[in-house]
Amino acid sequence: MPADDAAASAAVRHRTQVGIVGAGPAGLFLSHLLARAGIDSIVLEDRSRDYVESRIRAGVLEQGSVDLLNAAGLGARMGREGLAHAGIEIRFEGRGHRIDFLALTGKAITVYGQHELVKDLIAARLAEGRPLHFDVSDVAVAGFDGDSPSIRYREDGETHEIACDFIAGCDGFHGICRPSVPAGVLALYERSYPFAWMGILAEAPPASKELIYAHHERGFALLSMRSPTLSRLYVQCGPEDDVAAWPDERIWDELQRRTATSDGAFRVPQGAVLQKGVTPMRSFVAEPMQCGRLFLAGDAAHIVPPTGAKGMNLAMADVHYLTQALVARYRSGSMDLLDGYSARCLRRVWKAQRFSWWMTTMLHRHPEDSPFDRRRQLAELDYLTGSEAAMRVLAENYVGLPLE
Ligand code: PHB
Repeated sequence: MPADDAAASAAVRHRTQVGIVGAGPAGLFLSHLLARAGIDSIVLEDRSRDYVESRIRAGVLEQGSVDLLNAAGLGARMGREGLAHAGIEIRFEGRGHRIDFLALTGKAITVYGQHELVKDLIAARLAEGRPLHFDVSDVAVAGFDGDSPSIRYREDGETHEIACDFIAGCDGFHGICRPSVPAGVLALYERSYPFAWMGILAEAPPASKELIYAHHERGFALLSMRSPTLSRLYVQCGPEDDVAAWPDERIWDELQRRTATSDGAFRVPQGAVLQKGVTPMRSFVAEPMQCGRLFLAGDAAHIVPPTGAKGMNLAMADVHYLTQALVARYRSGSMDLLDGYSARCLRRVWKAQRFSWWMTTMLHRHPEDSPFDRRRQLAELDYLTGSEAAMRVLAENYVGLPLE
């Protein structure tokens, strides 16, 4: 027997309808929506439960994402602990300018940490006793170009193989699903930025009720939060900077300087730094978001720079469309929505790419910028905050474009 066949026969075999690689917001939310529609899935994750529940990531949910979570019965804790925000502040040249989302669009956003949502999704999955495997290794997807996709992985020293109808690649930018697509199928679109964010989670009350995005000649700063006692704060840093280059005092000093108001009255409340890390800035799209019976969702298919707060929301929209398509396939046999999955997602994805790129370029200090560019940037901020039409453009995109 050839070695491969021997390994295959030794594998523990499983069967499900949808094999899901990755237990982040995309994979977990997909498994939940499918279960509600009576579709079975198995979720695999190569990290530990503790890791995915504690990694600090994004924190802003669009109104549409909140609506999806509520409709799926997942909104209880988010409703209690999430912070509803009706606007944001754009600060530059020492002055703040509020953009009133509610007045401009009738919608708001909710600040709720991604890891909190992940905890809720894991709890819901486990409460229903449905399969969710952490700490698996050597995950490999195969057969999606034909009718019998499969996923192999190792768990507790044994090899397993899941036979499934479809595979959902929800395993993030560094996952294995996208690279498993044969060469030549995907077109990759990418932009990197000559800066990153140094972010901290601090035991300090938020500086203000709403998020503050600050443009400053020393670089961008963002004041966000996770709760009435926890702040999430970022300063623009070099793309290669590591945390060693940014002791706490340096971060606090930059935060204070970049967010200072002309009247000298504003201070960012300081406190113990609980976590510190670098957020890279990248725009990336893989097209199409599918290959045969493999469907990519969330960061596996696209990355946005965090300035527009779109990442988690795009993942949820993908999964919403993928669920609709899989439900149609299982209920009526129709492949139409599955065939159109990528095109449907990408229309929204590219608009979010454009918005995230625009927010990023408008608010950051670009090392290459000429004095002309800097004047133009300030004129753009001045126009934005002085024109109701321009503020509405920002607001409409920030609260989230409509989900079909
Ligand atoms: C965050 O709270 O982590 C956050 C908020 C808004 C952003 C990015 C990150 O644009």
